[in-house]
Amino acid sequence: MSAQFLKPQIAESFSRAAVSYDSVAQLQRRIGHNLLAQISPSSADVVMDLGCGTGYFAPLLTEQVKPQQLVCLDLAQGMLRYARQTRETPNTLWLCGDAESLPLADNSVDLIFSSLAIQWCEDLAALFSEAARVLKPGGRFLFSTLGPNTLHELRDAWSVVDSYQHVNRFISYTALQTCAARHLQKVSLIETEELLLYDQLRELTAELKGIGAHNISAGRQNGLTGKARVIAFKQAYEQFRRPDGMLPATYQVFYGDFING
Ligand SMILES: C[S@@+](CC[C@H](N)C(=O)[O-])C[C@H]1O[C@@H](n2cnc3c(N)ncnc32)[C@H](O)[C@@H]1O
Repeated sequence: MSAQFLKPQIAESFSRAAVSYDSVAQLQRRIGHNLLAQISPSSADVVMDLGCGTGYFAPLLTEQVKPQQLVCLDLAQGMLRYARQTRETPNTLWLCGDAESLPLADNSVDLIFSSLAIQWCEDLAALFSEAARVLKPGGRFLFSTLGPNTLHELRDAWSVVDSYQHVNRFISYTALQTCAARHLQKVSLIETEELLLYDQLRELTAELKGIGAHNISAGRQNGLTGKARVIAFKQAYEQFRRPDGMLPATYQVFYGDFING
């Protein structure tokens, strides 16, 4: 399989998670709010929330930027269905589409806001090329995404058990910067780390399932995970238990601010 991710599976997995997503997405909220804080107070006519998920940020974007048109786009129909029913935002277009092939006209968007969605793209060059195409001159692309150190504990623990890919691979800072800068001008690209702590490993795995981000990648194993392998995996993860008794899960987060210059 050449593609790292499989789009129909990504869409299906997120669609299935639409109802549970908001209750387990504390980290995603925090990261999205950090990204919102990067929006300068100026207004923008057309704003797009790229990979809008359950639409949590739609009312916040409306309140903060007061756009004439807010386009909330996502690959997953189930997410959009849930978002439409849950969020009441004026002037909002809910659109099913792919970030790598945007169903929007050239030079039509002032601001693209995208929190924790672009790490699911198969072709980041296509994503940034599309962002540059739809942005007006001077338009901004603000995004958050994940770096390769994300969930390294989970990856390491599974590597003791088998050689399948259980955790998605994420792009490095340098590769991300190079790719974005081919199409847009960098204002900033900031790297941060978030450490989540759990009493039990099942809390982490349930959370990943709840947001729909569990185990969607081309190198993953098909079929059920055997009991003995799960026990071995849990034992391997125990090596990371900290002196305070908690199990850590690391997220490496990149915040990008690029301009169509
Ligand atoms: C982790 S959720 C983030 C949702 C929301 N931005 C938030 O912060 O709560 C990732 C979202 O990106 C969407 N997504 C994944 N690949 C996409 C693509 N190629 N084009 C558009 N949306 C995509 C998923 O369907 C999912 O709703």
